[in-house]
Amino acid sequence: MSTLRIRRPDDWHLHLRDGAHLAAVLPHTAARFARALVMPNLKPPMTTTAALAGYRARILQALPEGMRFEPMMTLYLTDRTPPDEIRKARASGFVVGAKLYPAGATTHSDAGVTSIDNVWGALEAMAESGLVLQVHGEVTHPDVDVFDREREFIDRVLSRIVERVPALKVVFEHVTTAAAVDFVRGARPGVAATMTPQHLLMNRNAMFEGGIRPHHYCLPVLKRERDREVLVAAATGDDPRFFLGTDSAPHARHTKENACGCAGIFSAHAGIELYAEVFDAAGRLDRLEAFASERGADFYGVPRNQESITLVREEWTVPSGYPFGADELVPLRAGGKIAWKLVTG
Ligand code: DOR
Ligand code: ZN
Repeated sequence: MSTLRIRRPDDWHLHLRDGAHLAAVLPHTAARFARALVMPNLKPPMTTTAALAGYRARILQALPEGMRFEPMMTLYLTDRTPPDEIRKARASGFVVGAKLYPAGATTHSDAGVTSIDNVWGALEAMAESGLVLQVHGEVTHPDVDVFDREREFIDRVLSRIVERVPALKVVFEHVTTAAAVDFVRGARPGVAATMTPQHLLMNRNAMFEGGIRPHHYCLPVLKRERDREVLVAAATGDDPRFFLGTDSAPHARHTKENACGCAGIFSAHAGIELYAEVFDAAGRLDRLEAFASERGADFYGVPRNQESITLVREEWTVPSGYPFGADELVPLRAGGKIAWKLVTG
């Protein structure tokens, strides 16, 4: 198979930033995806429906003439998110969830949740109103090894949420370990997971190939080859709980090539093509459509897209950088080749 026509996909986990950065990255996503769930970790964080309404309007404003794209929004949960804000978010029609960042876990998460015990009321309100919880699943205690943070989070936090609020829909975002895949497979209905291209394509060696590789640093950090293999089996298998969320996270080159480099990998320039490589290598191209275009929509309870896109097996060279407002960003596979190409027009 060298041509692949699939239903237009959705990206269920995306960072678009704001202002000139937003304008620079949005066309990459809109060229491929019909919809995306846009992360709220801006500065300041998007903790209210009113703030999200303004942000959503700026995204639509930044969309180039003639492109169609629907941003779906998620509220940034804090220790003090009132249940009433949850109800407001649901009533807006454009907010589909709320995001739990453990405080300090990642980029712009300082305003996140310091203890799960502070948000039970908000989680109950979400379950009642039908908002989906997206979880950055890592503990932040400095005594926990960085490679164990996801696994520890399952026992210490996630299993408690899933059990205590049985009607809450939960997405375990950007899973990276065999332990996370096992948890999701065995969890009650209403629990799912997104997977990024980097965690399906690379293991932690990619951060240290011949020297330190800041552009392969993201959170959760890349894991072992064994974990990657389990992720690929889940993504390309039949379980509808695993679906696409790129976690494309642009940072200016100088903030990554830095003594204290930012976490995040930009993949929106090839946000579906990179997954095509994964499914092709696994001999499962026929499952790409389910993973990329069906399971997420079904989980979130929105209609599957009616349009389609076409990919061809044709190598292309990724530019060494893309413009990023006044800065430049370095995309995944910069200067290297990608085996699948999006056919446009
Ligand atoms: O690598 C990451 N980058 N992980 C996250 O959780 C946040 C993201 C970002 O916003 O840059
Ligand atoms: Zn993210």
